Amino acid sequence: MRAVKERANAKINLFLDVRAKRPDGYHDINTVMHSVSLYDEVTVCVAPSANTSVSLRVVGNDRLVTDNKNLAVIAAKLYLERTAKTAAVSIKLVKNIPISAGLAGGSTDAAATLRAMNKLFDGYLSDRALRAMALDIGSDVPYCLFGRTAVCEGRGEIITPTYHPTLYTVIAAPNEYVSTPAAYSELDRIYSDFDRSVGRRGEQLYDKMLSALAEKRIDFSAVYNIFEDAVFPLCPRSAEIKAEMYRLGAVSAAMSGSGPSVYGIFESENAARIAADRLKNEGVSAYYAASV
Ligand code: C5P
Repeated sequence: MRAVKERANAKINLFLDVRAKRPDGYHDINTVMHSVSLYDEVTVCVAPSANTSVSLRVVGNDRLVTDNKNLAVIAAKLYLERTAKTAAVSIKLVKNIPISAGLAGGSTDAAATLRAMNKLFDGYLSDRALRAMALDIGSDVPYCLFGRTAVCEGRGEIITPTYHPTLYTVIAAPNEYVSTPAAYSELDRIYSDFDRSVGRRGEQLYDKMLSALAEKRIDFSAVYNIFEDAVFPLCPRSAEIKAEMYRLGAVSAAMSGSGPSVYGIFESENAARIAADRLKNEGVSAYYAASV
């Protein structure tokens, strides 16, 4: 039996705009993803076997599904199926990233599982093949394979690595929940199915963000997430925490992904740690996280 342990880092979106609704049910997006030091730990063990089996044990969160719906299980099964290999796979997942929060927790676990599987099978698949497989698991999974800072377009799979800043962040996950499809539907309603009849602030801000990245800096006034329009009215606590981030001295703050988690960016590690402690004292699940 062989085992590989991988870190599965969370991501935040320094920028996220939705551009169009597509006929296939997805949306075209413009986003800047950024990986942070909040992570799950994924250990994949592979034993030779004539039949394929995949099992998952989760430590640290009882609410996570461990069956065939878990993205790590889906990833391991897909890897075996597509490479026509059989094996007994057991996965241990130490879950630290808040679930259903917009931090790509499930996607990063799937990506880590794919990386681990590919190491266990001696790099059988190219990075390109691994990325194609990742997209069949979820829109954020291709980015999560290699992380860092990347401009992602299409469904999220057209990935251009960009300047990777060192940021000191606080990530807060309110006790509220909106599913990703529900958040997209709400945006469809607000933006008339993205027929361009409703203007989007994100269009100009995207240009600002990309120009800054090209100059190896972050334009904090261009940090933006269109999902705030859909999710803040449904998750008022999340909006309050964003305001609280600014009161605590954040240079910038925004929702991550389809929410409801929000993050603040602070001037120094010390300032971010103090803000995280303040939020924790107020009963908020808050985490200090640095760029990784
Ligand atoms: O790709 P993933 O399975 O993570 O997406 C979950 C849901 O989010 C999709 O079924 C779709 O409703 C919505 N989605 C979208 N456009 C994207 C990504 C996700 O509409 N680019």
